[in-house]
Amino acid sequence: MIVCLCHRISDREIVQAARDGVTEFEALQDETCLSRNCGCCEAVAREIFEAACADAGACAGSCAARRPVATPTVVTVRRAEPAPLQAAA
Ligand code: FES
Repeated sequence: MIVCLCHRISDREIVQAARDGVTEFEALQDETCLSRNCGCCEAVAREIFEAACADAGACAGSCAARRPVATPTVVTVRRAEPAPLQAAA
């Protein structure tokens, strides 16, 4: 799944960076420019990165290692069905 649309960075790349030893989100940003344009992806990117760091045994923050591994939430947006037309009386 692409997390950062501006820089085309996937969750797999974020997890791989944590597995490769990146322990600071800012270092990941320096390497990839993740979340350095519009910033819309920052919360999800941090969540994925901190979970990956915890899973890899590193601590990205003071509490990341104690948190359960989070799975990103996928939200499906459905269009509302149009209301049926009413017959004129
Ligand atoms: S979506 Fe990541 S900086 Fe815009």
